[in-house]
Amino acid sequence: MSDHQPQKMYEGKAKILYSTADPEVLLTYFKDDATAFNAQKKGTISGKGEVNCTIASVLLKWLETKGIPTHFIDQPKPDEMLVKAVTILPVEVVVRNIAAGSLCKQTGLEQGTVLPNPLVEFFLKDDDLGDPLLTRDRLALLNIVTPEQVQELTNYALKINALMQEFFTSCDITLVDFKIEFGTDKNGVILLADEISPDTCRLWDNTITDANARVMDKDRFRKDLGNVEDAYQAVQTRVLDQAKALMA
Ligand code: TMP
Repeated sequence: MSDHQPQKMYEGKAKILYSTADPEVLLTYFKDDATAFNAQKKGTISGKGEVNCTIASVLLKWLETKGIPTHFIDQPKPDEMLVKAVTILPVEVVVRNIAAGSLCKQTGLEQGTVLPNPLVEFFLKDDDLGDPLLTRDRLALLNIVTPEQVQELTNYALKINALMQEFFTSCDITLVDFKIEFGTDKNGVILLADEISPDTCRLWDNTITDANARVMDKDRFRKDLGNVEDAYQAVQTRVLDQAKALMA
């Protein structure tokens, strides 16, 4: 019997990390708390912790079977995920298939414009600085990831995008864009970490054409579109159905 008392290692806006008896394993607790615009907007999305943990668990497990190394170990409870301990790289990697969000704001591209190729962008993971967009030269200047790591992250991001597009298309959902984070394990190996969920993706319902009604992700919370819980639950239902179909 282990006498380990879980210690809170880190609390973020949407998750809390706890130690376990094994120093190489951490427990992530997914909260219902929701924030947007660098925490200027705060609220809760009832049931979000369980839904996001479940969706992220299914997707990470599936990506692992497709050759993407991830931090996922197990989902012992609906809102808890056991993960491999990693050092998170301080960059947020965004992949876009369709123009939305900050890309439209910063470039004037019209929302909904289909991009000729997926766009991979790096943002600095620093709330105090407002997570600024980084150029390749700024990445090199800051020296937070090596040029080789930038290439490896870009390759993973594009592969993950192709796989996730395949998965969500089967759910009748368009993967507009998403944000992922990576970490390195004790051997320096890069693993996909954090979560993939309606908090971190833009997901549009293919069965609906109305630009607001089709939104199934955190933009419902960001833009006060209503029915946030229903949208998250609907994503979970479709993701679980697709996972079942894949295993059948
Ligand atoms: P953006 O258009 O606001 O740059 O967001 C791009 C994608 O990244 C979108 O799917 C939402 C996700 N995202 C996060 O997961 N966390 C964040 O802090 C931000 C700003 C975006």
